[in-house]
Amino acid sequence: MTKAIVIRQTGGPDVLEWSETTVGEPGPGQARIRHTAIGLNFIDTYFRSGLYKAPQLPFSPGNEGAGVVEAVGEGVDWVAPGDRVAYVGTLGAYSEARLIEADRLVKIPDGIDDREAAGMMLKGMTARYLLRKTYPVTADTTLLFHAAAGGVGLIAGQWAKHLGATTIGTAGSEEKVELARQHGYDHVINYRTENFVERVKEITGGKGVDVVYDSVGQDTYPGSLDCIRRLGMWVPFGQSSGPIKDFELQLLNAKGSLFTTRPTLFHYIVEREELVETANDLFDVVRSGAVKIRVNQDYPLQEAARAHTDLESRKTTGTTVLIP
Ligand SMILES: NC(=O)c1ccc[n+]([C@@H]2O[C@H](COP(=O)([O-])OP(=O)(O)OC[C@H]3O[C@@H](n4cnc5c(N)ncnc54)[C@H](OP(=O)(O)O)[C@@H]3O)[C@@H](O)[C@H]2O)c1
Repeated sequence: MTKAIVIRQTGGPDVLEWSETTVGEPGPGQARIRHTAIGLNFIDTYFRSGLYKAPQLPFSPGNEGAGVVEAVGEGVDWVAPGDRVAYVGTLGAYSEARLIEADRLVKIPDGIDDREAAGMMLKGMTARYLLRKTYPVTADTTLLFHAAAGGVGLIAGQWAKHLGATTIGTAGSEEKVELARQHGYDHVINYRTENFVERVKEITGGKGVDVVYDSVGQDTYPGSLDCIRRLGMWVPFGQSSGPIKDFELQLLNAKGSLFTTRPTLFHYIVEREELVETANDLFDVVRSGAVKIRVNQDYPLQEAARAHTDLESRKTTGTTVLIP
């Protein structure tokens, strides 16, 4: 018998129940892994609240983890019992052990520990596709990244700096502003006390940035659109303050024929080759020291509710892991 966090009905953090579960033997193409660390992500709160629909109730939440392979099913020859592995993207990570489709697993290279791996798969791969695929950032790029001291934000700042970009971040306290400064951001705006649109205009000499990566949503929209140069790009990729409603397409015209997409990591890593390429790129920047993973909080897995409360009340910075 193993234990897992289970959601029987969606709602606030108190719906996260520590329950007994059974994990069977892996079927064809599957592996059974024992978690050593589990990544906490804002998306976990969307599934918990019901903003995103889980395929069924009850379910175990969580989209990112690291652990050791205990057993593999028929046809799996790329991972074996004893391998250290990590993954992103299939619900069920808030558990001591689980079954998973083995083609979603990547081996954790030497030099990266399990806590770092668990905390960077989803957030780090997101930073990677945003900066390298959605809007390919170069040394000529000036970008604005909201929630710069958050999990995705601290990784993205360092990675964008590594690519040579001019980086502007926003954050919600002076302490977070300082943290973001230490993680690749040339300019950081406290958007609780300063008007970020005016500050971006000042910093860019009135021109605006090439791209805005906006995971805050409701509170930063439509200000984000006013920060972008003509023909630039707006990338709304999250909704930490609530979803954007009633978006008027005409606004893109009015603000300078802007481009936009509402992307998700999961569409960038559908094929195994895409997953492996993205993970390897991430492991490379971490192992080279260009990007450091800040695991700033950890919680026992059974206290996942406390972790959710802290994440949603803006108390966390960088990456958070749950330890089974
Ligand atoms: N589309 C994708 O592929 C993808 C993948 C990963 C993550 N995401 C999105 O990226 C965002 C960041 O994820 P994360 O896990 O790294 O979380 P996070 O950034 O560590 O936490 C969210 C941060 O958003 C800021 N925020 C602003 N207004 C807020 C509000 N009303 N309530 C709560 N937080 C608020 C807070 O920072 P300040 O106090 O500094 O404002 C908070 O710390 C989330 O929106 C997530 O859904 C999207």
